Amino acid sequence: MVGAPDVFFKRHEPDTYGNAHPKELLRQITEDVDYLLPLANQHIMSADQFKRETLLQLFRLAAKFEANPSRFSTPLQGKILISAFYEPSTRTRLSFESAWHRLGGDIMSITDRATTGIAKGESLADVGEMFNNYGDCVVLRDINEKSPFEMMDSLRIPIINAGNGLDEHPTQALSDIYTIFKWRPSLVKRRRANQPRLKVGIIGVPDKMRTVRSLLKLMIKFPDVFNDITLIHDGSTKDIYGPRLTEQIDEAGITVRESHNLEAVVGDLDIVYINAIAWIKDSYESYGKSFKLDTSTPLKNSAIIMHPLARGEELSTDLDETHHNWYFAQARGAVFLRMALLTCLVQRTGRVMDVV
Ligand code: CP
Repeated sequence: MVGAPDVFFKRHEPDTYGNAHPKELLRQITEDVDYLLPLANQHIMSADQFKRETLLQLFRLAAKFEANPSRFSTPLQGKILISAFYEPSTRTRLSFESAWHRLGGDIMSITDRATTGIAKGESLADVGEMFNNYGDCVVLRDINEKSPFEMMDSLRIPIINAGNGLDEHPTQALSDIYTIFKWRPSLVKRRRANQPRLKVGIIGVPDKMRTVRSLLKLMIKFPDVFNDITLIHDGSTKDIYGPRLTEQIDEAGITVRESHNLEAVVGDLDIVYINAIAWIKDSYESYGKSFKLDTSTPLKNSAIIMHPLARGEELSTDLDETHHNWYFAQARGAVFLRMALLTCLVQRTGRVMDVV
């Protein structure tokens, strides 16, 4: 076009923040497939289900995938994933689907319950019975806490709870802990009482946020690592833990402090985990509007920020190009963590282990 100015759009450079190399994590954990084999054909409903050793082996397998992203393109060949998301999702659905595709499997995706028999009153149990004939694994997200359990009863293929209302989001928590261990791989070794404590601040309300509840449930599996946790909330929720979690924390022998003053505690924290959104039915509520992280927050220089995303005003985009940004790494690593879990559930572990 004569006279028209050239217009160029700057290509976004890949971010390098939170880019710890997974090979160091691989070196720290000795492979032991015996902890992964029992995952075969299991339903994944809660973070409670995982033992410490199983978690470490899953992280090792995830790191193996992440360290060699193009090496494993066929382990799920011939397998079909049913990806059913009855509540909005960017990261969870697409990272599960990416994980399955990367391993060579095929996918059927449902993103609207109105396009299935549920719109005609069909029960989730009956839908589950049909899924047995169509695929090899189900990933379900639903606004209703009971939904994955209703479907589970009729399933003979494994189902993964990808977020059920306010209850849990176990694979988000797996991805969160995987991120932390990639940040400091030496944390996977049992820590002695005289070692410096890792100070973790969690801005959120476990009873309202499934990501925070599942994260705490996994952290208590590593009481030697996560023994200095401060929950930061605005005090507007009475029982911030909800049922059972308080007992589980007590049983793990760790103390979780509470604070209503982010400024007062943030400068001491090694990890700042923030979430503000709670899904309530088909909408969401924002908690802790008074808590915001931006480049003026007096963070420790070495501190990392984690966030399950999607974010709102609580996490300024100004932080994206700082070394505190580990939330993008969290989302990136979730693909590899989910690759590890899926491989184990559909009994293809033997195709990715060096020795079985
Ligand atoms: N972290 C998370 O669950 O994000 P999505 O809602 O986009 O899946």
